[in-house]
Amino acid sequence: MKFQQHSELLFGNISLKQLIPKVTLLAIFVILIFTLTPLSYHLYGNSSLLKIKESKNPAPSIHDHLNNEPARLSSTSEEKCDIFNGEWVPNPKAPYYTNTTCWAIHEHQNCMKYGRPDSEFMKWRWKPNDCDLPIFNPFQFLEIVRGKTMAFVGDSVGRNQMQSMMCLLSRVEWPIDTSYTTDEHFKRWTYPSYNFTMAFFWTPHLVRAQLADANGPTQTGLFNLYLDEFDEKWTTQVEDFDYIILNGGHWFFRPMVFYEKQKIVGCHYCQLENVTDLTKFYGYRKAFRTAFKVINSLTKFKGVTFLRTFAPSHFENGIWNQGGDCVRTKPFRSNQTQLEGIDLELYMIQLEEFKTAEKEAKMKGLKFRLLDTTQAMLLRPDGHPSRYGHWPHENVTLYNDCVHWCLPGPIDTWSDFLLHMLKMEVIRSERIHLKTN
Ligand SMILES: *[C@@H]1O[C@H](CO)[C@@H](O)[C@H](O)[C@H]1NC(C)=O
Ligand SMILES: *[C@@H]1O[C@H](CO)[C@@H](O)[C@H](O)[C@H]1NC(C)=O
Ligand SMILES: *[C@@H]1O[C@H](CO)[C@@H](O)[C@H](O)[C@H]1NC(C)=O
Ligand SMILES: *[C@@H]1O[C@H](CO)[C@@H](O)[C@H](O)[C@H]1NC(C)=O
Ligand SMILES: *[C@@H]1O[C@H](CO)[C@@H](O)[C@H](O)[C@H]1NC(C)=O
Repeated sequence: MKFQQHSELLFGNISLKQLIPKVTLLAIFVILIFTLTPLSYHLYGNSSLLKIKESKNPAPSIHDHLNNEPARLSSTSEEKCDIFNGEWVPNPKAPYYTNTTCWAIHEHQNCMKYGRPDSEFMKWRWKPNDCDLPIFNPFQFLEIVRGKTMAFVGDSVGRNQMQSMMCLLSRVEWPIDTSYTTDEHFKRWTYPSYNFTMAFFWTPHLVRAQLADANGPTQTGLFNLYLDEFDEKWTTQVEDFDYIILNGGHWFFRPMVFYEKQKIVGCHYCQLENVTDLTKFYGYRKAFRTAFKVINSLTKFKGVTFLRTFAPSHFENGIWNQGGDCVRTKPFRSNQTQLEGIDLELYMIQLEEFKTAEKEAKMKGLKFRLLDTTQAMLLRPDGHPSRYGHWPHENVTLYNDCVHWCLPGPIDTWSDFLLHMLKMEVIRSERIHLKTN
């Protein structure tokens, strides 16, 4: 069922064999070899390939990678493959950076610094059931995004993803800080040799929100969410971006009061008299609906929108503030667990809202894509900081952190997914190009 869902969402119901004759395939394949280091003038005009040659970086080397490319891409099976269904398999070559080679690791995700005793959790890669997913190649990625801009829009798990990518890219280059504000919630980084900019926009609820009470019924704050109002801190900034990666989830577990048309319509665990509890799901659905609506209404926006689906937390033996913890040291196999309960419901809401928004986007010629990390991350109870996100004596809200992801760690795989998807965009645009010529 899951496979069908993805193949439908991503590729429609048409098989590629029906779509394009063999000759075209061959042409695509030849062109691809050049376009994956896009636009051949870069081959001559820029030093990136030289840098690749000189690099003393660990495997997989760029040479291995490019040599494997034709074989892999000559088949369309990769394009039809559902990369989001698979298993974690051992990868002795990982990790590709450490906390000493990468300074971009957020304090609370620097698990080795705080004494995490095991390191096996770093040494896995994701193996889709029906194909291989190459390990992130930072050189190839930067070639594809040359001159482009990418916005991470959402909560701290989105920041976690961006920092993971910065660490993976650090084998090639460090970015310079091009932030337009000193507010750490709105960082902007530019890779000078590639003129690639990525930006982080803090908007954990995606819509306009206000902290109404710093404590609230659960001592985690009570937020007013204006479910039909844009959060202008990001919506006014993303119009020029080439890629938007949207995410949200964990903040919807906290108490919230929902407003629509500037009136209270209900809440989630607000404990206010006469206010109906509409559940977190109500707010979650409306927040995504509004966020997608903004993107579809931006007149200048021409980019690709990725929904990075919900990454479940893994508290066991209690919830986050009642002694729950995540102490496993190995991934699950897919037959050992399944998405259920709240996680499943949040995920389904995302898929439903995504599908609706995608239809509307298509009519406007905009691309929506699903970066469907949910299943892979469900299988990684071992990838969180747990109590190694801070010193033992430190008094932090999330003492056992089973929400974020240690760096290096399983979240590095999101860059594998993203690069694969960007390559597929290249294939598709080449195909359109070929067909229209
Ligand atoms: C990196 O991790 C090691 C333990 O593996 C720790 O001793 C060190 O302080 C950490 N360094 C930084 C810069 O975080
Ligand atoms: C860098 O990229 C931005 C768009 O991301 C573009 O506006 C600008 O002209 C580019 N600069 C150079 C020097 O290519
Ligand atoms: C709640 O509703 C009851 C019955 O309609 C009313 O008597 C009461 O004043 C309301 N409370 C608040 C805080 O509005
Ligand atoms: C899950 O699959 C593995 C390998 O396919 C098998 O060895 C194991 O027994 C299965 N576990 C369960 C709980 O079905
Ligand atoms: C930890 O911080 C909270 C809130 O800031 C405070 O209520 C609590 O007493 C602190 N606990 C310790 C052990 O310092």
